[in-house]
Amino acid sequence: MARVLTGIQSSGRPHLGNILGAIVPAIQLAKENQEESYIFIADFHSLTSSKDSELRKQNTLAVAAAWLAFGLDISKTVFYRQSRRPEVAELTWYLNCFTPFPMLANAHSFKDKSERLADVNAGLFTYPVLMAADILLYSADLVPVGKDQMQHLEMTRDIASTFNRIIGEDLLTIPEARISETVKTIPGTDGQKMSKSYNNYIDIFLPEKQLKKVVNTIVTDSTPLEEPKDPDICNVFKLYSLIASETQTEEMRAKYQGGNYGYGHAKKEFFELIFTKYAEERKAFDFYMSNPKEIEEKLAAGEEKARQVGEKLLNQVREKLGFR
Ligand code: ADP
Ligand code: TRP
Repeated sequence: MARVLTGIQSSGRPHLGNILGAIVPAIQLAKENQEESYIFIADFHSLTSSKDSELRKQNTLAVAAAWLAFGLDISKTVFYRQSRRPEVAELTWYLNCFTPFPMLANAHSFKDKSERLADVNAGLFTYPVLMAADILLYSADLVPVGKDQMQHLEMTRDIASTFNRIIGEDLLTIPEARISETVKTIPGTDGQKMSKSYNNYIDIFLPEKQLKKVVNTIVTDSTPLEEPKDPDICNVFKLYSLIASETQTEEMRAKYQGGNYGYGHAKKEFFELIFTKYAEERKAFDFYMSNPKEIEEKLAAGEEKARQVGEKLLNQVREKLGFR
């Protein structure tokens, strides 16, 4: 049986990319799985990009509320905040010492972030090692993530193999990534990867008016209303087709190709689809955000379970490295 584990940073509000790329597939995988899954909020990771503590608390709640709103079953899941299990920080140190410097220097995500962000700190650089520790501490077998995280998973596998080889024992479980082939990378309002750090994201939990505003910021070209349009190069169409049924998608494709259908019309349809398709989830999200105690209780239970599992592995690692 395979243990599923995944996490989402609390560096911003959860968005459509997180939901389609991580939350929905992970919940599905957890449902199919007999063994308990590990789902956590990577709040330590969020410190690499944001130093605002109040905001972090709010975002941590929002990410937790999103998981719960999408139906995370906590009776079958260990649901926790990364920071409440500091064992992971100790394991990160050990793994740092088994991680070749050039491997981190070649990480796409570091290169990408260091070009975009003003604060290029060492945490950003060693971010993949903390991620490896997240996964290895709980001996996860399967890690559902978006395509952008594939390289981090490769690094985790490399670090774990190196560690096992050097200590001469298969103590760390080598995990596998589970990338949802149909979803891959969700584009943001500007057509680049949707991300909390790029301010191009669609937060489906926003109040109606604000959500409409965000949908209206999706970048399109300036083809006049009357002219036929190519749906395959349009961000609105791409986003719409990710959440629409096949029939709905084909209908919109025909409208694009037929002319007399503007990007404004497509945006309106996209907005309406978000609104109806996610009505239940939006309601549940609001409930949790106005009842943070409900979230807190669920997380506290998961954190206690995670402690028992994490401490056991950490003790074995300490022993192998001569720290016990
Ligand atoms: P962000 O880039 O917004 O900070 P995270 O790095 O916290 O998002 O990602 C959390 C999870 O959501 C990861 O599994 C990641 O692969 C997935 N994810 C994030 N953005 C996207 C996207 N644009 N398309 C698909 N999956 C995504
Ligand atoms: N780095 C991941 C991301 O940005 C979030 C994350 C942290 C994660 N630790 C993890 C995902 C462990 C899966 C497993 O998307």
